[in-house]
Amino acid sequence: MGAILVVDDERSMREFLAICLKRAGHAVTTADSVAGALTHLDAASVDIVITDLKMEHDDDGLRLLREVRSRKLDNEVIVVTAYATPETAITAMKQGAYDYLTKPFKVDEINAVIERALEKRALVHENQQLRQQVEGRFQLASLLGKSPRMQRVFELIRKVHSTRTTVLITGESGTGKELVARALHTEGSRADAPFVAVNCGAIPDELMESELFGHVKGAFTGAVNDKDGLFSRAHGGVLFLDEIGELSLNLQVKLLRALQERTVKPVGAVEDVPIDVRLVAATNRELEAEVERGSFRSDLYYRLNVIELRLPPLRHRSEDVPMLIEHFLRRFATEQGKPIDGLDRAAQKTLQEYDFPGNVRELENIIERAVTLAESPLIGVEDLPQLRTAPPMGSTDAGSVAFPDDGIDLDRVLADYERSIIERALEHAGGVRKKAAALLGITFRSMRYRLNKLGIEPESQDGA
Ligand SMILES: Nc1ncnc2c1ncn2[C@@H]1O[C@H](COP(=O)(O)OP(=O)(O)OP(=O)(O)O)[C@@H](O)[C@H]1O
Ligand SMILES: [Mg+2]
Repeated sequence: MGAILVVDDERSMREFLAICLKRAGHAVTTADSVAGALTHLDAASVDIVITDLKMEHDDDGLRLLREVRSRKLDNEVIVVTAYATPETAITAMKQGAYDYLTKPFKVDEINAVIERALEKRALVHENQQLRQQVEGRFQLASLLGKSPRMQRVFELIRKVHSTRTTVLITGESGTGKELVARALHTEGSRADAPFVAVNCGAIPDELMESELFGHVKGAFTGAVNDKDGLFSRAHGGVLFLDEIGELSLNLQVKLLRALQERTVKPVGAVEDVPIDVRLVAATNRELEAEVERGSFRSDLYYRLNVIELRLPPLRHRSEDVPMLIEHFLRRFATEQGKPIDGLDRAAQKTLQEYDFPGNVRELENIIERAVTLAESPLIGVEDLPQLRTAPPMGSTDAGSVAFPDDGIDLDRVLADYERSIIERALEHAGGVRKKAAALLGITFRSMRYRLNKLGIEPESQDGA
């Protein structure tokens, strides 16, 4: 329901429109001239103006449209014309009319145009509010979040960003661990010094030590020069060890030593080198469980875990979904140079109810894809990918298994099933193994092991 102003110098037309629109539940006022319309617009707030194009003068409708725009009124204008030459319609649209109707028109037609115009207005209004939120206290560095859970994360970041204390960031894949690490740097007292990030899962174990601590010339075959390690490169700043759970036990010992002594020993060197580095680590694994299992050293775990920043999965903070959608829409609409108003109700609802196993990264990908596919400024469900709403568990029902006389090979059946699930996850993750692992709730290492075992070659590789 909206407030609509009908402008026409012909009384029968005014009355006809007023009756139709009132019947559809709108609040209607009328005016018989441009001057009368402007007086009304100055006095009351109106959502939509429907104006005849030709009244006392041939271009009165366009004149009203220009007045509305120059007064910076935010209502939509729909122009009605009996003299539909394409040019007048195009002129009206170019000057900012929302749409035009050609006389004679059907009641359904008016109602449909009005509904769309009202929906657009509501959307623009919501987006404005969301944008204000984004610009306000619901943002820290590039992190967005209005949910109490994210607000607590922001609070903790503010408390510790300028200390030296080691921070361990935990959370599922795509929850924003890297953004938090960067926020700790840009917001903190070391912002002017380097931020150096390394993915512990992406560097082969044999190279990791020299990567972290550097090496001297001749330390090993191929070490033709002295080389600084990441600790030295991050001097005075922040060293971010991503996927710390992938670090081998051997390197865990060396890292612990570096943290305790505040020195590093380059491979092949005799002397220790002092370091001043703030260490931030991240993992999507349950390190505590790894400690119990013996694959992660407890002393290093406690050394890293002085402050734990636990990022909640997106499904536990659905209040954040609308502002993240708005943020990604703006970004991708600008990048792709496409005029996008927003998501229609159905699409909004679909995303609001989805559980985002891939968290913010998945939402970001969904929006990028939708902006790319959208053929109108209003994104609809048809622009969204097929979203899994319930876990695909139905197919584990063994009712369909047939037993031939000589029996089945259980291991093979299970391997086939595992293969098809992993292949589906890979497909869903666009071939990125890390993402597929997250979708399956297994570690990257376990994913690699299974791919090897089953002889699956992912189509696109992610360099790790
Ligand atoms: N709170 C947030 N506000 C805005 N963008 C976010 C937020 N959280 C995550 N993102 C975006 O989502 C994507 C994934 O975030 P990020 O890489 O930090 O996740 P991650 O936890 O490190 O994931 P992974 O464990 O897979 O490495 C990035 O593009 C990031 O910009
Ligand atoms: Mg990450």
